[in-house]
Amino acid sequence: MNTAFAHQLIEKHGSPLYAYDLDAVKKRAQTLLAALPQGSRLYYSFKANPLPAIARELREQGVRAEITSDGELLAAQNAGFEDGIVFGGPGKSEKMISRMLENDVIHFSCESFTDAARLSKMAVKAGMKIKAMLRVNPQQAPDARLAMSGVESQFGFDEALLLADGAADRLKLPNLTINGVHVYFGTQVASVEALAKNTQCALETAARVSGALGLECEVINVGGGFHAALCQRGRGQRSRGLA
Ligand SMILES: Cc1ncc(COP(=O)(O)O)c(C=O)c1O
Repeated sequence: MNTAFAHQLIEKHGSPLYAYDLDAVKKRAQTLLAALPQGSRLYYSFKANPLPAIARELREQGVRAEITSDGELLAAQNAGFEDGIVFGGPGKSEKMISRMLENDVIHFSCESFTDAARLSKMAVKAGMKIKAMLRVNPQQAPDARLAMSGVESQFGFDEALLLADGAADRLKLPNLTINGVHVYFGTQVASVEALAKNTQCALETAARVSGALGLECEVINVGGGFHAALCQRGRGQRSRGLA
């Protein structure tokens, strides 16, 4: 958005104000989708910004919705997202899971054995079959401004818990299929190299965990982590193709 136009908007609407350039959103999504390997799916975390115009634009580009609350579900539905919504986040209550199932959200990120048992219980109650990815907190610390893995945290299974004897049995639960692994290493990752390193670490974690559990790993959920400044630089040279 150029400065003159930004000034016009301020004159018209007053300051401070947020203004979004949907064309830039569209181009960013297209660039990222084109840079991802074939078969990849791109999800937008509604927590980042649930503004309907942004969400609709992303949906039109083929991006899917990742949500963590009732409010985000409503925002996704209002923006026209129907299928393939993924629900993540710790602290899912039974009521919250039920509401998701009532709205045909049947793919979850699972943060703990307790979470897995709760998901299974609610799926049985609803008479539905659901899928979940195991959110894993890898032993290795990531390269990120705000790290959400590699340290003790409320997010995800510590990797050692899943590599321990008996873990696979604890995850064999009615109406719940564990279909993948989710590693979110942190946000504001400052360079393309660090993003690539973190992604490699996530893939290796997924391989270790699925190997140990004898898991059919249909999906691996990696990232986001894109850095705002990195995205800006991407317009020029260094990080083009990533964001
Ligand atoms: C599980 C998960 N996925 C994705 C995101 C969005 O990440 P980012 O803002 O780094 O793109 C977050 C942010 O907290 C998150 O916790």
